[in-house]
Amino acid sequence: MPADSADAHAARIAAALAADGWCVVDDWLPDAAWRALADACRRHAAAGALAPAAIGRGAARHHDPAVRGDHTRWLQADDPADAPALHALDALRAGLNHELFLGLRRTEAHYARYPPGAGYARHRDRFRDDDARVVSLVLYLNEAWSDADGGALRIFAPDGDTPHDVLPIGGRLAVFRAADVEHEVRAARRERLSIAAWLRRD
Ligand code: OGA
Ligand code: MN
Repeated sequence: MPADSADAHAARIAAALAADGWCVVDDWLPDAAWRALADACRRHAAAGALAPAAIGRGAARHHDPAVRGDHTRWLQADDPADAPALHALDALRAGLNHELFLGLRRTEAHYARYPPGAGYARHRDRFRDDDARVVSLVLYLNEAWSDADGGALRIFAPDGDTPHDVLPIGGRLAVFRAADVEHEVRAARRERLSIAAWLRRD
């Protein structure tokens, strides 16, 4: 694989996933790259192209803004605005396969916009009847985020004790095991943009 900024982090991410179940990488993408993705997300929002996110699967699938308040849109490989993010995620997928022999075959990713006051209650990203999602990633797309803005990703590490709060700072990537890491999105006082992605084994 060619030298790639994403892949430079794969060894450290792999080690942290194996040992702790989660990790955070700051400045995963250059500022210009994540700002362009933030612009794309805002364009979709302005065009009404983000849809309220659902919870559950099959017949149980439904909307409940009290549980989950984000609006989303899947990234498309043939959209020039989306391709750089998908390439970076695929480079990381290749790096994690190399490090951990995970057999990750596919990447899926969506833009997510949480309006002020919205959150996502404590959950896991793997469905009871579908274990295809192995690694969860969230790339944040927000300028100048501070503690007072709220909106942390709260991670409940598998080893138990105190939860860890991760602020959604632009360029920051949160990575965790989809199977066993519970997490929630705390309500923010301002618009909160991200790309959530999953590395899948199907
Ligand atoms: C999700 C999720 C976390 C975040 O989309 O499943 O948990 O910090 N997102 O946006
Ligand atoms: Mn989640």
